[in-house]
Amino acid sequence: MSDIRELEVALGARRYPIRIGRGLLGEGAALAALVPGRHALVVTDANVAPHYLPHVQSALAGKQLGTVVLPPGEQEKTLARFGEVMAALAALGASRDATIIALGGGVVGDLAGFAAACWMRGVRFVQLPTTLLAMVDSSVGGKTAVDLPQGKNLVGAFHQPAAVVADTATLDTLPARELRAGLAEVVKYGALGDAAFFAWLEEHADALLAREPAVLAEAIARCCAHKAGIVARDETERGERMLLNLGHTFGHAIETEQGYGGLLHGEAVAVGMVLAARLSAQLGRAPAADAGRLATLLTRLGLPTAIPPGLDPDALLARMRLDKKAVSGTLRLIVWRGLGQAEIANDIPDTALLPVLRP
Ligand code: NAD
Ligand code: GLY
Repeated sequence: MSDIRELEVALGARRYPIRIGRGLLGEGAALAALVPGRHALVVTDANVAPHYLPHVQSALAGKQLGTVVLPPGEQEKTLARFGEVMAALAALGASRDATIIALGGGVVGDLAGFAAACWMRGVRFVQLPTTLLAMVDSSVGGKTAVDLPQGKNLVGAFHQPAAVVADTATLDTLPARELRAGLAEVVKYGALGDAAFFAWLEEHADALLAREPAVLAEAIARCCAHKAGIVARDETERGERMLLNLGHTFGHAIETEQGYGGLLHGEAVAVGMVLAARLSAQLGRAPAADAGRLATLLTRLGLPTAIPPGLDPDALLARMRLDKKAVSGTLRLIVWRGLGQAEIANDIPDTALLPVLRP
């Protein structure tokens, strides 16, 4: 077993651990300890299950265990699939002390977490993230949701996990495109609040793409520490947590317009961050040179930086209006202030936005 990194999300009197390290899914006794009750339901997907479901099943051999294996992909983060998880919980006879285990990427984590928020008005859940994106972002902080055709994550709840266990060895089987998508969210932390981390990413871009274990573990731990701090200060996104949505209002609009079958979430966030930076530079709120550095790093990491062809700017703007940060119909955007700085703005006129949305 290589080095294990231990962090904590502290929410007043409530707190939960984040464990990061290679081989953690092989620690059967530690996994079993995360399920205090009799019932557990593992939610995973068809790409992840063949590799990692047996670890969890053997760790929980003494429990009454159900399993839901979803088809992979964002298009499955739906109310219909949520209904299937509810039906599986009912079939299991899951009681209030049941634990739901999310084994997979952000799609599985968001959906399983939402199921945990809703079953019997809320049961325990554990995040076992297996994508880089889930390890650095979606498994931490308790945002759970499913998508609607009208917009991303529109139906959901804040429901914190009881623990996050990130076995970084699972990244060995992650497709390269998915690794790169996760790197977009890694870059986000540097871009919005940590210029030194951004410079570190510039220095280690090749090592990250080569999946050097020590460099990946360092990046994951730094992102989790950053997110844990923000979530501790603003659990339900009244203020500071909105900054974690840098590029997301643009990105979510792109994903929704593409019917969740085009760019991956992380790729859409990469494009969204570049659009946010361009908007800020045009408004004189961020140095153009910083916007250039951001686009250069994302490009080096193999990420897209332009809106995919064929998307209508007016349609994208209409999607952006349904963003969850909007208040009383007024769009709120995360405006970039240059490397390591971002702020919330509700004064961006359509006349400034539309040119940025044009290809
Ligand atoms: P994902 O869950 O679709 O996983 C990506 C792909 O990788 C899938 O095809 C999956 O089957 C496969 N996969 C996962 N782990 C694997 C492994 N170890 N080996 C091989 N294949 C593997 O996507 P994602 O990028 O992890 O998550 C994106 C989702 O996360 C979006 O729905 C987004 O909205 C959500 N998200 C939520 C939060 C939050 O705070 N809750 C934050 C960021 C993103
Ligand atoms: N991914 C944004 C958040 O968790 O708030």
